[in-house]
Amino acid sequence: MTIQWFPGHMAKARREVTEKLKLVDIIIELVDARLPLSSRNPMIDEIVHQKPRLVVLNKEDMADPQLTKKWITYFESNGIKAISVNAQAGNGMQKIVKESQSILKEKWDRMKSRGMKPRAIRAMIVGIPNVGKSTLINRLVKKNIAKTGNTPGVTKSQQWIKVGKELELLDTPGILWPKFEDEKVGYKLALTGAIKDTILNLQDIALYGLLFLEEHYVSKLKERYEFSDIPDNPVDKFQHIGKLRGCLMAGGEIDYDKTAELIIRDVRGIQLGRVTFDFPPEDDNEKM
Ligand code: G4P
Repeated sequence: MTIQWFPGHMAKARREVTEKLKLVDIIIELVDARLPLSSRNPMIDEIVHQKPRLVVLNKEDMADPQLTKKWITYFESNGIKAISVNAQAGNGMQKIVKESQSILKEKWDRMKSRGMKPRAIRAMIVGIPNVGKSTLINRLVKKNIAKTGNTPGVTKSQQWIKVGKELELLDTPGILWPKFEDEKVGYKLALTGAIKDTILNLQDIALYGLLFLEEHYVSKLKERYEFSDIPDNPVDKFQHIGKLRGCLMAGGEIDYDKTAELIIRDVRGIQLGRVTFDFPPEDDNEKM
C-alpha cells in the first residue's frame, strides 16, 4: 500500500487515533522488527500520551534476532513493554494477550477491589502502513471472529472483535504516517518495502543498502554476491553484481536500474539473511 501523506492526511489520522484512544484501555503499537525506530510514527509518544501501551515488533522472522533482543531491552529501559512476534505465522499471539493483561493488572485489581466485575481488555492496534496490522488482527481473531456489536457508550459504527475472553480489539487499526524528515529513514523504509513506490532514486536506495550491509553484515553480502573483496567504488559494486546476475542492457552494458531493483528485491525477500536496519540509540554500531 502506498499512501501519500500530506499535512491534512496526517492531521486527520492523528484526530482519528486520538478520538479512538478514549475507547480503549491499551494501545498495541506495531512496528517492523527490522526498523524498530524508522517504522514508528514520529509523534507516537505525544499521540498515545498517558495511555498504557505495548510495543509489538512484528516480522521477527525477517529481523536480526540479536538486535530484536537489544531493541526489546531498549524499549523496556525506557519504560515501554515490548515483545516480538511473527504475525504471518501467528507466533506470539498469546504473548500479546498476556502482556496486555500484565500491563493493566494494577488497574484491573483496583477495579476488582471496588467490587467491579472484570471485563475484557479493550485494545487498538496502531502503526504505519505495511507493518502488518491487518495480518495481526486476522491472526489474533483466528476463526472465532465474533463481533461484539455495540458496546454501551461506544460510537455505533465502532465494531469490536473478541480475542478469546480476555481481549477485545477495535476492528480497524489506527494508521499513522512514518517519519519523512530524514533521508536515511526513507531509504530504510524503501529497502524493506514499507514504502513501495517512492520518490527516492532506486540506485540510491540500493546503494544505501549495499553500504549498510557492507558495514554491518559484510559476510552475508560477500556470500550472496560472491565478492572476494568488495570494491570501494559504487560503480564497481554495481558492475560486479550486475554482471554476476545478468542485469544487462542490449549490447552487454550493465543495467544499473535493473541491478538496483535486484538488490532491493533481495533485501525485501531476505535473500541477504535476517537484517535489522536500525540500531538502538545507545548502540555504538549506529553509524548509518
Ligand atoms: P498493514 O495492515 O499494516 O498495512 O500491513 P499488512 O497486514 O497488510 O502486511 C503487510 C505485509 O507484511 C504483507 O505482505 C504481510 O503478509 C506481511 N507480513 C505481516 N506480518 C508479517 C510477519 O510477521 N512476517 C512476515 N515475513 N511478513 C509479514 P505483502 O507482501 O504486502 O502481501 P502478501 O504477499 O502477504 O499478500
